[in-house]
Amino acid sequence: MTDAQARLEAWSKQLAAFVAQTDEAAQRLIVQLVEEALLTATRARLQALVDGLPVHRDRILELFASVGITPDSSSADELPATPESILSYYSLIHRDWSWAPEVDEVTPSVEAIAKIVPKDFRLGRTLVLGAGTARLAWDLGHRLPGAEEIVAVDINPLPFLVTERLMRGETLQLFELAGHPRKSTFGCKDLAVAASRPPPPGLRLVLADGLAPPVVPGGFDTVITPWFVDQVPSNAATLPPMIRRVLRAGGSWINHGPFVYPKSTKAAHRYCADEFLELIDQAGFRRTALSYESVPFLASPASSQGRTEWVLTVHTRMLDVANAVSREPAWLGPGSAVAVPLLDGLSTYVAPHPAIAAVAKLIDGERTVTDVTRALVEAGDIADDGTAEVAVRGCLKVLWQALGNA
Ligand SMILES: C[S@@+](CC[C@H](N)C(=O)[O-])C[C@H]1O[C@@H](n2cnc3c(N)ncnc32)[C@H](O)[C@@H]1O
Repeated sequence: MTDAQARLEAWSKQLAAFVAQTDEAAQRLIVQLVEEALLTATRARLQALVDGLPVHRDRILELFASVGITPDSSSADELPATPESILSYYSLIHRDWSWAPEVDEVTPSVEAIAKIVPKDFRLGRTLVLGAGTARLAWDLGHRLPGAEEIVAVDINPLPFLVTERLMRGETLQLFELAGHPRKSTFGCKDLAVAASRPPPPGLRLVLADGLAPPVVPGGFDTVITPWFVDQVPSNAATLPPMIRRVLRAGGSWINHGPFVYPKSTKAAHRYCADEFLELIDQAGFRRTALSYESVPFLASPASSQGRTEWVLTVHTRMLDVANAVSREPAWLGPGSAVAVPLLDGLSTYVAPHPAIAAVAKLIDGERTVTDVTRALVEAGDIADDGTAEVAVRGCLKVLWQALGNA
């Protein structure tokens, strides 16, 4: 990671926030235990949490301490009210390594992928982006043939700290703290976290940014993005070009996951499955097979709640550069020196938006995208905030497609 030191410091602060929040939660429960008239089962449920939370805290601290990360409470006053939690994705640890055989949400994912890969498919050198606990990578390494190396990349340390222990053959004990327990005895479950078989040969855990993976260009035969494209990039359209860089020509990109976005993703980037498939096509990937099915998600056996998500599983092959369909003309490329041509139908074109109309008016067969942008900025029609040219290219693309060029 380019910002490794800053991340280490942030994790230490997040760990301090986790300790403070856990201790506060235990204190609140103690107060409720003495203040209220309680059912026996209710008292037992609260008492289990009062007893379990400090153990939970210490187990998490021990995992981090084993790699030298300790809580930094030096600036406790500065901690934001809702700090990004070091326990984000904690529930995946139990889903991946504790719930089966009662609930197994991993095997259906493995089988969905196995079903859509070509008959002669081999994993080869494989990169898994946003791998979480790497359980899917682990199982795919056993289920699909030809794994040479499986590099599981994630930016979040806790799941990897757990999986690293499992790779060494250890079993851990970790609490599942169901927010909505199905039974009063399920609120604080001490679960064994264990792998039922050894890791596949070549599995490696790499803590890194999956949006800029530190890998050799063209070095992978397969890239897998499980539950990644909607959650991680702010705009999934930026992913295909990045994946093109890391895959060898003819390599496979397998996507598996839903289209359920964080609040921060803007509407224009909340691609549905069909839009995402179009993005893949445009970026020079050829789809060979896909499925789109609804599956249970995080339906813990301890919880009275679980989700259903529609999951797209698609296998694509990266076309080599010579065969890649570059649908966009050179003049639309970023910073292109080629003038925007006087497109057929331009004189009678009715723009659907004033911004597009303003752009269309400036097409004279000589101006480039940069020239059009400059003219709009000078006229005060568009803000010069560093994104003006992107906006103009967007307008030109709409116009170009509307004139029958898509
Ligand atoms: C929805 S979870 C999916 C986890 C896993 N793929 C699975 O199928 O269970 C998204 C994962 O992406 C990881 N993540 C978030 N931002 C990331 C980034 N910039 N680079 C790599 N991983 C990231 C999170 O830590 C989390 O493990």
